[in-house]
Formats: sequence, structure tokens, C-alpha cells
Amino acid sequence: MRPVPPILARVVDGALEATIALSFSRVGIVVRRATSSWPPAPSIAGGTFLVTGASSGVGRAIAQGLADLGANLVLGGRDLARLEATASDVEARGVRAITWPVDLSRSAAIDQASERLVDRLERLDGVVHSAGALVGDFTTTPDGVEATVATHLLAPFRLTWHLRHLLFATGRSTIVTVSSGGMYSQALRLATLEMGPAKYRGTTAYARAKRAQVALAHEWSRRWSGRGVSSYVMHPGWTDTPGLSDALPHFARLGQLLRRPDEGADTAVWLAAGAAGNYGTRRGIWLDRRPRSEHYLPWTRGGSTATGPELWRWCESRTGIDATAD
Ligand SMILES: NC(=O)c1ccc[n+]([C@@H]2O[C@H](COP(=O)([O-])OP(=O)(O)OC[C@H]3O[C@@H](n4cnc5c(N)ncnc54)[C@H](OP(=O)(O)O)[C@@H]3O)[C@@H](O)[C@H]2O)c1
Repeated sequence: MRPVPPILARVVDGALEATIALSFSRVGIVVRRATSSWPPAPSIAGGTFLVTGASSGVGRAIAQGLADLGANLVLGGRDLARLEATASDVEARGVRAITWPVDLSRSAAIDQASERLVDRLERLDGVVHSAGALVGDFTTTPDGVEATVATHLLAPFRLTWHLRHLLFATGRSTIVTVSSGGMYSQALRLATLEMGPAKYRGTTAYARAKRAQVALAHEWSRRWSGRGVSSYVMHPGWTDTPGLSDALPHFARLGQLLRRPDEGADTAVWLAAGAAGNYGTRRGIWLDRRPRSEHYLPWTRGGSTATGPELWRWCESRTGIDATAD
């Protein structure tokens, strides 16, 4: 196929984005790949990356994609047998992998598992936060926190805080947060971020936590870009994973329109490898290798009342971590 002029590629990309559904579906990545410049991500051979959620779905595909670029991996998740399966898979690609079992909904487990990692590693080239689940019924963790906000927001906050010196040690590291297009439906408001049992809806709790992930990712950039850390937030579109079919079975009807896991993972791998350069405090949520608007709806833009620093302080108070000093 003859290369498409960049201006036409931008028009095609913009037209897809305007439809939202086509953009999120497999059509989005297939068309963009065919019409835009889509160079391979740079080699990260010898680097070490932690991927949470590496036992399944998007996280597993991210680990595979990073291994294809030569990275060694720390594979986080709860299910040891499935983590070992991912480890065998990535080792077959010629890199080293260690399994790192941890239940990210439990603060004590994160603290212990992080300590093991800090003792074992001298540096980390990147952390990818992909672990997550849409919880249908109101559930609290042993810490007394609603499970969705605990796993998607407070766990990445806590974990990244513990590992920050490993990221600083590299001089040029990345944090990639896997959010969701579902976040477009919700504003960032601290008063309603953690849902209670009374009006709990799993999809709403999930969308609010995913919206907060966007702000937290920017806050990491704002605070740590001077330490060589680039933090990005992306979403994988609609990707065919066990998590999607369990939580939202009606999506399975999309069949071939769902992205394959490697397609959902592509942008996270590309960002983690540093292909986007240092975006510093630039805004945007990435999909298909481009930063996209963080709002499609006027009421989420106007209704988002919390700033990044306020969210940071909220995370501090809910985790009991004093994250003021570096
Ligand atoms: N699939 C999509 O279309 C889609 C769309 C938007 C966003 N996302 C996001 O993509 C990410 C991956 O989702 P997926 O679709 O790939 O789902 P998945 O196949 O269910 O994978 C979820 C992963 O998260 C891990 N995980 C969940 N809760 C955990 C906990 N408490 N502690 C440690 N690990 C935990 C799971 O580990 P174990 O199985 O070992 O417990 C598993 O490895 C999530 O953040 C999700 O919100 C997915």
C-alpha cells in the first residue's frame, strides 16, 4: 500500500475519533496503523519493567510486547499459576522474568511486595499499571476502602511511591497507567470518588476511579519529570480479554470488532518504551499512539472540580502515606 500523506492520515484519525465507537473498536487501530506512520518502538533491551495485571488480558500482552523489545520483566498479579504462564511465555522471547504475586487491594501486601522488590532491584526503567477489575457489587478491602478505588487508584499511588527511587535511579524512566474510555462518562470529584454501598454501581465506581487515574498520572509527571520520570495515561479501547467478557458480557457481541490483546496493549508498550519522548506535564489520554482529549462531554469538563495536587492529598489521606518528600 502506498503511504498516505500525513495530512490525510490526520483527517482519517480525526474522523475515527469523532465516532468514538469506531475509534475504540478494532477498526480504530487497524485503520490508523494502515494510514499513519507506525514505526516500531525503540529497543529497550536490558531494561527492567514492572507490569501489574500481567497474568491476563491487556497486562499480559503488554508484558509480551515489552519482552519483544528486549526488556526483562517483573510480572505482578494475584494468580501465581497464570503469572508463571506469562513468565514462560516472555522467557521464550529471550528475556528474564520474575513473578511478583501481590493482591493490590491490600495495602499490607503492597508494602511487603514492594520491599522485596526494592531489596532485589537496583533500578526500574518503567512501571505499567494495568491491574484492575470492574466489581459489580459493593465490596470493601481489609483496609476498609471500596475495592475499585483501592485497586485502580490507591494501589498505583502506594506502589509507585514505594518504587520511586528505583525509577529515579534510571534517569529516564516511564510510568504508564492503563485507564479506560469509560472515564469519559465521569467528572473528577473527590466527594464522590469513593462510592458507598447505598447507591453503588460498579460501572460508575469504575469510571470514576479511571478518571482519577488520569489526574494521578499527570501529577506524577508534574512532580517527577525533573527526576527523569515520564508518566503517561492511555486506554486500550475495547479489547477482547477475560476481564471484559466477565464484567461486560454484552461487549462479547462485538466479536471481531473487539481489539486483540496485543492491539489493546500497543500504545502502552510504545509509551513505556519511551517512544513518545518527554511530554513533561502535557495533558491528554493516549489511544493509538496519540494523546487525545480528556473530555468529550461538557459536564465532565465543567464538573471536574479537583486539581491534581488535591487528588494527591486525598490519596495521601486514604493511604496514610506522607508523600510530600522525595
Ligand atoms: N479489556 C478492555 O476492553 C479494557 C478497556 C478499558 C480499560 N481496560 C483496563 O485494562 C486493564 C486490564 O484489564 P483486562 O481487560 O486485561 O482484564 P483481565 O483480563 O481481567 O486482567 C486483569 C488483570 O488485573 C489483575 N488484577 C485485578 N485485580 C487485582 C488485584 N487486586 N491485585 C493484583 N492484580 C489484580 C488480574 O490479576 P489476577 O487475575 O492474577 O488476579 C489480571 O492480571 C484494567 O485496568 C482495565 O480497567 C480494559
